[in-house]
Amino acid sequence: MKKQVKTAAVLFLLACVSMTSCNTSKKDNNNNMIEKVSFGKLPDGQETELYTLKNASGMEVKISNFGGTVVSWTAPNNKGVYEDVILGCDSVAGYVKGVPYFGALIGRFGNRIANGKFTLEGKEYTLAQNNGVNALHGGLKGFDKVLWTATPIEGEEPALKLTYTAKDGEEGYPGNLSVEVVYTLQKDNALKIDYKATTDKTTIINLTNHTYFNLNGNLDSDILEHEVTLNADKFLPVDKTLIPTGELKPVTGNVFDFLKSKKISAGINDTTDTQIKAGGGYDHCWVLTDSTKTLKSAATVYEPKSGRVLEVLTTEPAIQFYAGNFLNGTIKGKNGIIYKHRSGLCLETQHYPDSPNKPAFPSTVLKPNETYQTTTVYKFSVK
Ligand code: GLA
Repeated sequence: MKKQVKTAAVLFLLACVSMTSCNTSKKDNNNNMIEKVSFGKLPDGQETELYTLKNASGMEVKISNFGGTVVSWTAPNNKGVYEDVILGCDSVAGYVKGVPYFGALIGRFGNRIANGKFTLEGKEYTLAQNNGVNALHGGLKGFDKVLWTATPIEGEEPALKLTYTAKDGEEGYPGNLSVEVVYTLQKDNALKIDYKATTDKTTIINLTNHTYFNLNGNLDSDILEHEVTLNADKFLPVDKTLIPTGELKPVTGNVFDFLKSKKISAGINDTTDTQIKAGGGYDHCWVLTDSTKTLKSAATVYEPKSGRVLEVLTTEPAIQFYAGNFLNGTIKGKNGIIYKHRSGLCLETQHYPDSPNKPAFPSTVLKPNETYQTTTVYKFSVK
């Protein structure tokens, strides 16, 4: 009899443990919920997870350990209605099939490196040319396509810690690079992203997040009437392969001036501007006027109908404003919605593209005894 009770208890425990591994809800001390569900299997059979961070005001951010991807994010409009404001897929299968970095963590080097080559401490390194002749966003299997180790963090505000170690030589980059990214959903409807990394060999690094925002709350629409402010007095003109020419060009007097709030539609189709032509619209890196490493306001986006405002703050020196020019109606996203041309915009905080080949640009070199550390905050409000 005693033995039977023991066996039942063990079975019960085992059942609980196995349930916990596939679906858990964890309430922290402040009643914030961090929920975990399956996000589907990878082609090699590995399970992926989807975590939901929810704050007291009702904002919900879903993040997968696949690519550290922000999959959905609800923000209130001026009537208090929460709607999803980012592009993404319903399950991991969509991301595996191939999407242009929706919501993903980008690394080891965000943006382009000319001809997939750079020299560091006298040694030349060759990367995959995965964007025409250039290397883009960390390579064929960048940080957007790897499985991160996720740990929910209890505390005043719900957070998810993601860690990944890229091996020496992975995607052609030198050094074993240990990366830690913490997403924290703050009480004030802001998602804070803290990036940290260390290496055992001198390497290069430029981490960012590639979320596509559409503040309409209707992802079946474009972002052309969004009003953008960029606190940047210069931008980086590019060649026809989108590599910076090296010039830091003042924004005054051209369509790259977002110092005062302006509709995207006002300049994005001005093909008399050679840079708009080169980028197929806005797809450039703006150099922030404040070049200090403090957390400062880099950009603001306002969507007049919904009243939604998104402010981006960062410790980084620059921001890539990409208006979804390559979206062309071929990708089916969440809830079967087809993502049209320019249905999402990205504000990728970062160092300048092709920095490893441009000694005059701020350095992206990380040495073994240093710690890479940056923070970016995406904060929602209404007006
Ligand atoms: C970045 C680039 C764009 C494009 C997108 C992904 O933002 O700047 O040119 O490659 O990624 O489609």
